[in-house]
Amino acid sequence: MAKEKTLDDLFYDTLKDIYYAERQILKALPKMARGAQSAELKAAFEKHKEQTQGQVERLQQVFEIIGKRAQGKTCEAIEGILAEGEEVMEEFKGTTALDAGLISAAQAVEHYEISRYGTLKTWAQTLGYKEAVKLLDATLQEEGQTDQDLTKLAVANSNKKATKAA
Ligand SMILES: [Fe+2]
Ligand SMILES: [Fe+2]
Repeated sequence: MAKEKTLDDLFYDTLKDIYYAERQILKALPKMARGAQSAELKAAFEKHKEQTQGQVERLQQVFEIIGKRAQGKTCEAIEGILAEGEEVMEEFKGTTALDAGLISAAQAVEHYEISRYGTLKTWAQTLGYKEAVKLLDATLQEEGQTDQDLTKLAVANSNKKATKAA
């Protein structure tokens, strides 16, 4: 019989999932920044690209803490979310709805990350990886703040459109 898997195994697997996801996001953010029409949205994507680089490094530290090799595992969820984002960019290129579409795609990414980091933080607590809890929480806060910033941009963007339409 195969050795029974534990929460430690699940923690490692999920860490590999988000490690893969973050590196895909790191590649997607410059494309999203190039695609964005408003200067504010471009700046937000560029800022989050810098943060994401730091998040990848934090994950490498967490792998070190648990004494495992840093490696990614294909994450179908993030591939799907990012593919939808690219679809929006192609289909709404040059339209007034493009930024709204990009913000919505980016928020789907943030929500995926918030879900993963929330789970990982809880498991790290359960497993007694205190240093990992701090690292995962730091990233969780950044993802939450990014999500809120995007909401503000979405509201500002739709207000601008409403004023123009009036
Ligand atoms: Fe991230
Ligand atoms: Fe993020």
